[in-house]
Amino acid sequence: MSDLAVAPAAAALRGRLTVPGDKSIAHRALLFAALASGPSRITGLPSGHDVRSTRRCLEALGITIADCIEDVVVEGRGGAFTQPPTALDCGNSGTTMRLLSGILSTKDLDVTLDGDESLRKRPMRRIATPLTEMGATIELAEGLHAPIRVRGTSRLQGFNYELTVNSAQVKGALIFAALNANGPTILRGALRSRDHSERMLPAFGGTITSREGTLQIEGRQHLRASPQVLTIPGDISSAAYWIASATIVPNSRVEIAGVGLNPTRLGFVDVLRRMGASITLTHHGAAAEPIGTIVSEYAPLRATVVEGTEVPDLVDELPLLAIVASFAEGTTHVRGAEELRYKESDRIDAIVRGGRAIGMQIEPHADGFSVTGPASLHGGTVDAMRDHRIAMAFAIAGLGTPAPIAISGADSVAISYPDFFSTLDSLRG
Ligand code: S3P
Repeated sequence: MSDLAVAPAAAALRGRLTVPGDKSIAHRALLFAALASGPSRITGLPSGHDVRSTRRCLEALGITIADCIEDVVVEGRGGAFTQPPTALDCGNSGTTMRLLSGILSTKDLDVTLDGDESLRKRPMRRIATPLTEMGATIELAEGLHAPIRVRGTSRLQGFNYELTVNSAQVKGALIFAALNANGPTILRGALRSRDHSERMLPAFGGTITSREGTLQIEGRQHLRASPQVLTIPGDISSAAYWIASATIVPNSRVEIAGVGLNPTRLGFVDVLRRMGASITLTHHGAAAEPIGTIVSEYAPLRATVVEGTEVPDLVDELPLLAIVASFAEGTTHVRGAEELRYKESDRIDAIVRGGRAIGMQIEPHADGFSVTGPASLHGGTVDAMRDHRIAMAFAIAGLGTPAPIAISGADSVAISYPDFFSTLDSLRG
């Protein structure tokens, strides 16, 4: 585990940059392309470890994925997979594990999905319960966690199911299962989460209908390779770090081009604007996934409240919001975000422990935190808990503190953003 010290910004941050391709969209592009018949070309696939995990698992299932200069070409086999000889390694990636479990539930195979220490702690009953109801046989370690053994069946049945957590990974797993089940599936309830699967499906000739708060998916859909090159937009969750850095370092201006502006991912921008941030969005074109340019400039901030249905729209940015809130006037409250406890780390615990080590005034709650600013931050050492988003959030804090912040486990940024620290340096001076 490597330590890395982030020095305070000696001057305004300035620059124009791009960020890696969106991780959530990239997983789905690989998976849909593998299920479709024929070759699909994907451009802008990110090189982070999570997306590599999905690629590796698909290759272990017999799918050929070739690198062609900047693109990859996935040779879809119309849903035919081969039995892998050993367990699939999903690494740190919950999206890989959950979405693949949905797909494998429809195959007459016996596949175990495993992951690293962090992934082995994350809740998997949320997918095992509905997939079992559809007819798959699923075994979890201690009835709760990975390794997951999925014995799927081509006789999986469509069903009517009410989701209880707003999770795109659960929703996505069930969409993937439903597409190849017998009969229709209707999903209801907690459907407010990123909608990348729904937006991408038509590119592969599939259909999904959103009607009166439900999602309806016909079974046995035959997907065909995407006739167009699939472009993965820049990841707004990675852009969020630069948006935040410009907001807290006086006189800064950062421009990020080619970023995904899907409304289900814009919660961080909305909340920061409510706090007084100066952020402008310019949309380019009208693809299934909106893309555009973001300009973020320094502005004084005031506290806000984030709760309820807004939480899924910025769930991955909430640790970063805690940092930003330390630079705002007043107490910011985040509530209804208990899902943070089940991410790559317990992110409430991680941000509170690290935050207090650098002088943040932060109080944990069962389902969120409260942060009072402006805080007299100081340097110190924080533990990223091997969690990429915690490491990057504290790196941004390091720009605004009077002394360096040493981040233990900073190499975890490679999960989603391998070039994070070199980009950070490029913005200085
Ligand atoms: C993701 C969904 C989110 C998010 C994760 C990626 C996805 O999790 O935290 O980083 O690609 O579906 P949940 O929607 O399960 O909370």
